[in-house]
Amino acid sequence: MTADSINDIQHLKAIGRICAETLRKMQGYVRAGMRTRELDGIGRAFLETEGARSAPQAMYKFPGATCISVSPVIAHGIPNDHVLREGELIHIDVSAELNGYYADTGASMIVSKSERNLERLLDATKAALTKALRAAKAGSPLNGISRTVQNEARKRGYNVIYDLTGHGIGRKLHEDPREILNYYDPKDRRILNEGLVLAIEPFLTTGVGRVVEERDGWSLRTTDNAIAAQFEHTVIVTKNEPIILTL
Ligand code: CO
Ligand code: CO
Repeated sequence: MTADSINDIQHLKAIGRICAETLRKMQGYVRAGMRTRELDGIGRAFLETEGARSAPQAMYKFPGATCISVSPVIAHGIPNDHVLREGELIHIDVSAELNGYYADTGASMIVSKSERNLERLLDATKAALTKALRAAKAGSPLNGISRTVQNEARKRGYNVIYDLTGHGIGRKLHEDPREILNYYDPKDRRILNEGLVLAIEPFLTTGVGRVVEERDGWSLRTTDNAIAAQFEHTVIVTKNEPIILTL
């Protein structure tokens, strides 16, 4: 959507804050020995307290309030009986709706302890997001976001995941502009306009950068079982730095 009123911006900020706080709260509870289902319950309860609805559940009948992916699954992981282990790389994605407005945020993290090669991947993915946000400016080409992500990944010795993209958001979880690629496509001629609401989400991996759906019909795992990370923010495009709704 294009946010073109104070009312739009206020509602987007409200749901953005709720998604960000839900994610932060869940991250704070992550520890070895916990089931991903319990972690999802914490997110679910917080969303309920805030009067928000889980977007994947409401829109796609996803079997969980949030997506919790355990590496090498990197997206749409179903909260289940998996018991988290120390040093495991996981990803939490929170998207929700309030008063007809949607926001989407996500982050990767390591369970309980630090692992150097994993930390490196997380740092690179965070940097890709930070730089991509700066490229999201009114009047600039949309594929500037894509190019920035790909360049940062390469510079740090990683691949992007070619199959997973950012997207427009606001009145739905996924709307136009669809497919904000994480790699540069010169044929993409789309230009960013002021007020455009986007979910920007770089995915970086040590592998070939392809994912496949698991037999559960949801979980997306790297085809080569390589580790992967994602960080995501929902933003409103302006003439300068975007307004980050999910900080
Ligand atoms: Co997301
Ligand atoms: Co998203």
